[in-house]
Amino acid sequence: MSGPVSAKRAQFDHVSLSFDTPKGKLRVVDDVSYAIHDGDFIAVIGPSGCGKTTMMSMLAGFQKPTTGEVLFDGNPVKGPGPERGVIFQEYGVFPWLTVKENIAFGLKLKANNVPAKEQHQICEHYLALMGLSDFANSYPKHLSGGMRQRLAIARAYAVKPQFLLMDEPFGALDAQTRGNMQNLLLKVLAAEGKTVMLITHSVEEAIYLASRIVVVTARPARIKQIIDVPFAYPRNESLQERPEFGELRSHIRELVMNEYQAQQAQIMPASFSE
Ligand SMILES: Nc1ncnc2c1ncn2[C@@H]1O[C@H](COP(=O)(O)OP(=O)(O)OP(=O)(O)O)[C@@H](O)[C@H]1O
Ligand SMILES: [Mg+2]
Repeated sequence: MSGPVSAKRAQFDHVSLSFDTPKGKLRVVDDVSYAIHDGDFIAVIGPSGCGKTTMMSMLAGFQKPTTGEVLFDGNPVKGPGPERGVIFQEYGVFPWLTVKENIAFGLKLKANNVPAKEQHQICEHYLALMGLSDFANSYPKHLSGGMRQRLAIARAYAVKPQFLLMDEPFGALDAQTRGNMQNLLLKVLAAEGKTVMLITHSVEEAIYLASRIVVVTARPARIKQIIDVPFAYPRNESLQERPEFGELRSHIRELVMNEYQAQQAQIMPASFSE
């Protein structure tokens, strides 16, 4: 996707974050450093509750590090911005707007400055692409979970952000739709050349989509390993049948499994885990 030399877009520089909780400080992200370059597709994988969403939310501008710095285009992240499109883990749709109004929402923001006629065309395009045309005037509460998730994806794609932050965007979808959404994302990237940070629990999804996989530890999230995915773009589903794909999958599964076990050992009293 990217040439050999590409500009640094985002940088986690010795980033740690602790939450204040009634039981004291909870360290969630611990001394994380890595860079995301223009055109990179980073997939972040690690046990549930380890700190992945927290890590992403610092780059999105919703949380601030306790120590260290998160930089975007060389400047410390101060808040959200239109160049960073976010797809939340829990459906990021507005319940009080119709499906079409949800897609149009970002386009109507002054910062994005999209003419009215074009707004309409973009809405129609994504309604069709996501299979939501028949529900353009429905409210999200009348959609299924998978349809709401597709709407959230449409909303983020519609404003064509250069940088996509996606938190388990396909988790709520059935296997067939999930595969379609993965392929659609690859197409959008090929056409629009974006940079992506995606959180996923699926090792296959991480390998199929990403150029680099950041495996993080059980809480607090530290970098366990960063893996370059050795497959060129464009990719198609036959990649998943290749022996190298299977070998990489086994390797990453083992890394993630070890972290789940480490997490289990933290939670369970010693007598239980024996
Ligand atoms: N605002 C907050 N205040 C206190 N604790 C929080 C807050 N947000 C998250 N946490 C805690 O931080 C830890 C990491 O949460 P986070 O949502 O980043 O995990 P995650 O890796 O995204 O998990 P999952 O894979 O289940 O989505 C959890 O223990 C969670 O309870
Ligand atoms: Mg999460």
